[in-house]
Amino acid sequence: MDKLVIEGGRQLAGEIKVSGAKNAALPILCASLLSADPVQLANVPDLQDVRTTLKLLRQMGVQAETVEGAGKVMLDASKVNNLVAPYELVKTMRASILVLGPLVARFGEAKVSLPGGCAIGARPVDQHIKGLQAMGAEISIEHGFIEARAKRLKGTRIITDMITVTGTENLLMAAVLAEGETVLENAAREPEVGDLAHLLVAMGAKIDGIGTDRLVIQGVDKLHGAEHTVVPDRIETGTFLCAVAAAGGDVTLRHTRPQTLEAVIDKLREAGVTIDEGDDWLRVRMNRRASAVSFRTSEYPAFPTDMQAQFMALNAVADGPSRVVETIFENRFMHVQELNRLGANVTIDGNTALVNGVAKLSGAKVMATDLRASASLVIAGLCAEGETLIDRIYHLDRGYDRMEVKLTAVGANVRRVSGKQA
Ligand code: EPU
Repeated sequence: MDKLVIEGGRQLAGEIKVSGAKNAALPILCASLLSADPVQLANVPDLQDVRTTLKLLRQMGVQAETVEGAGKVMLDASKVNNLVAPYELVKTMRASILVLGPLVARFGEAKVSLPGGCAIGARPVDQHIKGLQAMGAEISIEHGFIEARAKRLKGTRIITDMITVTGTENLLMAAVLAEGETVLENAAREPEVGDLAHLLVAMGAKIDGIGTDRLVIQGVDKLHGAEHTVVPDRIETGTFLCAVAAAGGDVTLRHTRPQTLEAVIDKLREAGVTIDEGDDWLRVRMNRRASAVSFRTSEYPAFPTDMQAQFMALNAVADGPSRVVETIFENRFMHVQELNRLGANVTIDGNTALVNGVAKLSGAKVMATDLRASASLVIAGLCAEGETLIDRIYHLDRGYDRMEVKLTAVGANVRRVSGKQA
């Protein structure tokens, strides 16, 4: 099992190219199931969850070719011969649920292993199921699998109980091939949902209200092939912004989209970070200790839960106390005890973390528990005194494209060691 070793205390300087968004790429790869024609993608990030999704699609009979290092993926779902998403893959990646909508819509049938709970919360998929049922699918849950059938889905009006990102994406992919009009109320407005919708439109889908919480879809009989470039990863961008804010330095992030992370940029400015921005770049500068900033996670366009852990690492070394409230997932504070092992002073009270900024963290051995928790430990390690060793970084590899390579290029002292070397 690989580990990361970080020698903290170096400022960061230079340029980083941001990769395509994981949470846009995953639904977009699954959308290829909706057409018998090829879908060509660019800016697909090179990370474990993408490899898992490609494995899942290939197992279904999708031909998928990737161009090494170029972010290009060509998908051909003309010969799909297996409509099952097995437990072994779904248990490693919950986003596998995203094949459910496309499979039922195009093939009238799907069998997808029920994702279990995960480290950050229970994460049920009841809204995905209810929505498909409202569109006429017959769904049963047997032996741990969701089995769905429908001759042809029928458009209807769906109001989800809460805002759900992959739920909106699944229902959107189902609705584009349904008969008649579907209205998705309370839809997630995350830019990744919008990116998926843009690909679907390029494939011939009829969708109004992209980027709003009301998506109106006129079903079509079939979709055709398309080319699409995946939107830049706002969470990777935000992670590097927090890294510079905590460690200090002057870094320009290229190939990004600042408009998709305004809530995070605002909070960083409040913390005293200097940020300049253009259409597709951000320059972040920091030469003093940050001021602590309280925040609360919520659905887009508010502060993203996927940035909570990383910003907390910044607050851990900032001047003053702060309150961090997590409203999306019930158990997304697992980084807290690891940050405390590095000398942070954070206590948890229900869904609120109370952070008392300390002047210095000190390197220690810590363990990554989930993707964004891992990123927060990297940030903490970058500004801690001495050596930090982060175990179980396969969590980091699930969602970040060569993070240690990008950090090394801007002057960080980070190296990957295999389990045996450490
Ligand atoms: N929920 C339900 N029932 C449902 C669906 C959701 O109760 O049927 C609840 C969840 O348990 C959670 C809340 O609704 O409390 C919101 O969950 P959502 O469905 O929006 O999350 P998701 O679609 O499973 C995506 C991202 C997550 C990100 C969340 C929130 C992907 C592949 N994953 O998950 O990304 O945290 O939206 O923005 O898009 C990550 O990248 O680290 C990550 C966890």
